[in-house]
Amino acid sequence: MTQSLTLRRPDDWHLHLRDGAMLKGVLPETARHFARAIIMPNLVPPVVTLAQAEAYRTRILAALPKGAQFEPLMTLYLTESTDPADVAAAAASGLVKAVKLYPAGATTNSHSGVSNFDKVQPVLEKMAEIGLPLCLHGEVTDPWVDIFDREAAFIDTILDPLRRRNPALRVVMEHITTSQGVDYARAGGENLAATITTHHLIINRNHILAGGIKPHYYCLPVAKRESHRLALRKAATSGAARFFLGTDSAPHVDALKEHACGCAGCFTATNTMPLLAHVFEEDGALDRLEAFTSLNGPAFYRLPINQATLTLVKHESAQIFPEKIFTEAGPVTVFNPGFPVHWHVEP
Ligand code: DOR
Ligand code: ZN
Repeated sequence: MTQSLTLRRPDDWHLHLRDGAMLKGVLPETARHFARAIIMPNLVPPVVTLAQAEAYRTRILAALPKGAQFEPLMTLYLTESTDPADVAAAAASGLVKAVKLYPAGATTNSHSGVSNFDKVQPVLEKMAEIGLPLCLHGEVTDPWVDIFDREAAFIDTILDPLRRRNPALRVVMEHITTSQGVDYARAGGENLAATITTHHLIINRNHILAGGIKPHYYCLPVAKRESHRLALRKAATSGAARFFLGTDSAPHVDALKEHACGCAGCFTATNTMPLLAHVFEEDGALDRLEAFTSLNGPAFYRLPINQATLTLVKHESAQIFPEKIFTEAGPVTVFNPGFPVHWHVEP
């Protein structure tokens, strides 16, 4: 029997679209299923001013396929010289919905990020005052901290002190990967939320490393051991308002993924919704998928929920998804969950 599920149209609360030929190639994959997305500002050079965010938004809208209904929600990249007045003006424009903090050196194009958190304190105070959310890449960058411990160390040594100093600051812990992240987000009160990616609900570190290196499963924060994946599954499928989808879909051309120093990022824009239906069904939580993809995010960001809907259908036969999408920048491999998926988004 075919099963079908209709949801409010989902949003993606953490997305990398890049620019130029890559933007043109990947944007239709997101716009096909999602109404809005929080757009990451880690371009080269990064999006640090309102003028840059406006120009980037215009390029995104120009790259949309004809007739597509998609709203990019822009972010500013926080640097140690960001001016609080500029951030306030960007928020007041209505175009910028959050500020992104990368610890310097934590990930792709993060070298202009923050090393000394005292330097950004005036910006954080302004954001707390005006209610603008801070999106956080939560990993310490100390090379002596084991890569699998970097999220937990960040929570203890940076995030918790930062939130104690700025209790009114609204914070999104992005792409959490650990049970410590889940526990901290759950206990955090109404000013704290966490996004969870599709891929971290599906893979653990064995998928990357056992039986040969799988570069297309390498992302940051890196997937952790199985117990952490299970904690993420429990959080996402709980329906709790604190947790919502941020795919962190992060395209890199195959030549840079299959490389001696491969880039971090899983590209999940194409098949996220069918994969999530599979995951939520497996955990007996299909009735909570809509909260995760379409309700909890807008509630935290204080935006209306989408009026349009999206219908997923479960077919008898496994569905075929493209292995790659072919952009003018080069081929990009679509995340392969490693199991058959019967769910499909109806056109
Ligand atoms: O895997 C990742 N890719 N994690 C990040 O934090 C950045 C992203 C990218 O921009 O490629
Ligand atoms: Zn990201």
